[in-house]
Amino acid sequence: MATVETITESLPTLTLRSTDADKPAAVKEEYRYAHLLPVFPKEEHYPPLTPFEHVDPAARALSHSNPRAFLDGASLVDLTPRLGTEVRGINLVDLDNDGRDQLALEVARRGVMVFRDQQPFLDSSLDFFRAWSAHFGRPHIHPTSGHPDGVPELHLVYRDEHTTFNYELNDRVQPTVWHSDVSYELQPPGLTTFFLLAQPRTGGDTLFTSQVSTLRRLSPHFWDFLKTLTAVHSGFEQADFSRSGRRGGVVRREPVENVHPVVRKHPVTGDEALYVNRQFTRRIVGLKLEESNAILNFLYDHIDKSGENQVRVKWEPNTVVIWDNRVTAHSAILDFEDTRERRHGARITPQAERPIPANPDLKL
Ligand SMILES: [Fe+2]
Repeated sequence: MATVETITESLPTLTLRSTDADKPAAVKEEYRYAHLLPVFPKEEHYPPLTPFEHVDPAARALSHSNPRAFLDGASLVDLTPRLGTEVRGINLVDLDNDGRDQLALEVARRGVMVFRDQQPFLDSSLDFFRAWSAHFGRPHIHPTSGHPDGVPELHLVYRDEHTTFNYELNDRVQPTVWHSDVSYELQPPGLTTFFLLAQPRTGGDTLFTSQVSTLRRLSPHFWDFLKTLTAVHSGFEQADFSRSGRRGGVVRREPVENVHPVVRKHPVTGDEALYVNRQFTRRIVGLKLEESNAILNFLYDHIDKSGENQVRVKWEPNTVVIWDNRVTAHSAILDFEDTRERRHGARITPQAERPIPANPDLKL
């Protein structure tokens, strides 16, 4: 399963750089976001994550007289009926705490929001990024990926002319792998912010799907059955891949497995969402292997093919994309291998609550 690990927004796909001294001189001198290039300090080791109580920022917005006030004056385009809204005309760095709470609620409702013209956000200080993350949850530090020097809370996705695509494209027919970020954690991320600091002239888009909508396409009987199930999500293959040395990455926190409901409930909107993904979900608890595989493969096939639930975000310079990791899934698109252009993404990934079963009687 290691082959899936390098082709998503979750994982390091990059040239190893352990110190600034390793960076090409041209990068140090000319690249605007050189301070956000990835490093992999091998001496870093983190203890296991511990549980914490998550207070969802979106819940605070529910009592606001106008929970969409932060969008006043903005130009909005709903990208599809089921998820995705493109926003122009507001500046994310100007949002106060109320505005950030409202943002969290709107993202929970729309699944993903695409904010254009956000260069001030990209140019923000590392302290700003830390504070942005902490507003929405407990900042997650990825167990294996590269991060800017001294800022492990920023998860980086990086390719440049030195990065080979052979592994993903030669080993798989379809390098698109839908996933929800680090779903193996006991408390996976909620509101997630991702932006590209450098991008190919074209290509490298990101696909999103609504796991609320994919669930709603199922028959009531099957939906009810899924609500009786839990599944194991594993970070072990990701760690094994990093240890394999086939590409960059180090294991700084030992991998974990956790059991989550197959159908989770959003803590604020109450929406029920399918919560399995090809990258990290491994088996359904209590079923025999063939039964588990049959159900999971059916669900993955449904997620893969249901274009009516999906949106494709095309990256313009200075775009910030924010999604709710609890009710959506996503995948990067690897279609720019011929040009070998730089694609440099940064993700801010606050953890949220332990997934709430849609079925309150479900035992985890
Ligand atoms: Fe991802």
